[in-house]
Amino acid sequence: MPQHSSNVVWHNATVTRQRREQKNGHRGGLFWFTGLSGSGKSTLAHAVEERLFQNGFNTFVLDGDNIRHGLCADLTFTDDDRKENIRRISHLSRLFVEAGVIVLTAFISPFRVDRDNARKIVSPDFHEIYCDCPLEVCEMRDVKGLYKRARAGEIKHFTGIDSPYEPPETPELVTHTDSDLEGSIEEVYRYILERVGPE
Ligand code: ADX
Repeated sequence: MPQHSSNVVWHNATVTRQRREQKNGHRGGLFWFTGLSGSGKSTLAHAVEERLFQNGFNTFVLDGDNIRHGLCADLTFTDDDRKENIRRISHLSRLFVEAGVIVLTAFISPFRVDRDNARKIVSPDFHEIYCDCPLEVCEMRDVKGLYKRARAGEIKHFTGIDSPYEPPETPELVTHTDSDLEGSIEEVYRYILERVGPE
C-alpha cells in the first residue's frame, strides 16, 4: 500500500454528519453482512434495502460482485487482495455513514481480522450480521456455478473449498439463511430500524 503524503491536511466540513442526519430524520450506520458465497448476503441486503427505501430511509448497498467490477477490479482472491478489498470497502462505507446513509455491505469478508478492522474504522456504527448457511446448502444452490468449477479445480482460492471462512465469534446478529428468506428479511429489517431511528 502506498504511504500517504505528509503534506495532506484534513479539512473539516461545515455540513456535518449530525446536520445531515437531522435532515434525513434518521441515523446513518453500517450493516456488514458476512457469509459464504451463495449464503444469501446480497439477496438479503437488497431485500432489506428495498423495504427501508420504501419507508423513506436513505440507503445504499455495496456488493462484492459489483464493487469488483470497478473500485476493486484490480484485486484477485488471494488473502492479501481480499484484505485490501475489505480495507477499501471499510473506508468507503465510513464515508457513506458520514454522509448519513444506511449502508448494507455484502462481501464474503472471510477473515476475522479484516472484519475487526472494518469495525474499528466505522466504530461505533458497525453492525456485523452473520448470514449463517451451511456450505452444503450454498454448494447445492450454486447460483453462479462457481462451486462446481472450484471443485473441478478451475477456480483457485475459492472460499469454503480451498480458502478458509472464519465465522464471526460475536456478531451483533446471526440470521439463518438456509431456508426462510422472508423471516431473515423481517429479522434484519427490525434490527436495523431499532438502530437508525427515525429520530
Ligand atoms: S471477499 O472474500 O473479498 O470478501 P467478495 O465478496 O468481494 O469476496 O467477492 C465474492 C464473490 O466473487 C463471490 O460471491 C463469487 O461470485 C465471486 N468469486 C469469484 N472467485 C471467487 C473465489 N475464489 N472465492 C470466493 N468468491 C469468488
